[in-house]
Amino acid sequence: MYLTNEEEKMLSGEYGEAKQWAMEILTKFGDSVGAKKMVPIVSSHISCLSLKIPGENEFIDEVLSRNGRVEIFSTSQCISVDLKIWTEMNIDPEVAEKQKKVIMKSIELGIAPTFTCTPYLVGNTPRIGEHVAWCESSAITYANAVLGARTNRECGQSALLAAITGRTPMYGYHLKENRWGDVLIRVRTIIKGEEDFSLLGYLVGREIEIGVPVFEGIKCANSLELRALATSLATTGQIAMFHIIGITPEAQTKEDAFGKQSPREVMDIERSDLDQLESELSSIDVRQVDTVVLGCPHYSIDEIKNIAGYLVGRKVKRGKRLLICTSSVMRHLAERAGYADIIRKAGGIIISDTCPVLMVGLRESFGCIGTNSTKMAHYGRLLTKSETFFSDLRNCLEIITER
Ligand code: F3S
Repeated sequence: MYLTNEEEKMLSGEYGEAKQWAMEILTKFGDSVGAKKMVPIVSSHISCLSLKIPGENEFIDEVLSRNGRVEIFSTSQCISVDLKIWTEMNIDPEVAEKQKKVIMKSIELGIAPTFTCTPYLVGNTPRIGEHVAWCESSAITYANAVLGARTNRECGQSALLAAITGRTPMYGYHLKENRWGDVLIRVRTIIKGEEDFSLLGYLVGREIEIGVPVFEGIKCANSLELRALATSLATTGQIAMFHIIGITPEAQTKEDAFGKQSPREVMDIERSDLDQLESELSSIDVRQVDTVVLGCPHYSIDEIKNIAGYLVGRKVKRGKRLLICTSSVMRHLAERAGYADIIRKAGGIIISDTCPVLMVGLRESFGCIGTNSTKMAHYGRLLTKSETFFSDLRNCLEIITER
């Protein structure tokens, strides 16, 4: 692999042990995937802080033992404990302590303590064409397809190595030719609202599993809808990139989207396909829903405002639970704006820094989950081993609250 002078200096140890070690691993890996050179990155999103993924916390120790620090702006993925309400959640103090220690180490490394799966809402917002090294599948697909930034599907370790050196091997989605579409999805129905986009992505991800789908026939999409599509595509498929003709930045035309290649497959989506999936994900009667989970991915402040607006004059039903997941940055804004107070008074719980999939404790008592996110429905089934109810936001709120 070709290395610049600067990269050679890192590899020779001129810039310290951590950079040398990180560059050694990255060059070996780059060689193994056929990368011809490294590419400088502008940011990283790192997942080594959760207590749930084996080996990731120890990797932070390894970096610190070599005196390593991140070189570029780096944010952190969700952790396993809500640092604000962990006592109310009956989290074992030893677990909370362990989590806090990992956090302190990550701060020592220079990673911003954002603890969210939506780094693009808290300042990690690369521009079109910029290279980054991100983990978290929903954020990766959003970065590539919606922001037009370039990242592979990194794990916590590789994102951290990239952050230490400011480089990542130039392969995969960093190269234009791997970003072209290869499957044409002809959407034969009007797609409107986050839930429609979430169902569409879940269905397409499940069908094609890997590749770059190009959607034709979607007339408009706001950022929440695009986020729902990105998230669900990456839930059932290993999809890190998609195009919507006329909407996403690298697909103003069909020719842009496919570049020099033709679709290897064409798939038609009708309303009946989405309806069928919705009933598959809604296998229980609404009355059986015990917990409604919103905020997968983490909610923005305007989404929290919307929920608070709905909850005025309503209360969560006895014996039921309403969870709203977000980052601590958004929680702070929600506290300031008074939205958090309205949600609390109505009996809702705001969870920040973590989510039902990554948290320790609590989720054992969720019972049957209702949600408007196909990703949460997917993991809800796996984690709680119970059935789910998928519906739109309004319906989810209606079934869990009363006047
Ligand atoms: Fe985020 Fe957890 Fe969903 S990390 S995307 S809220 S499963």
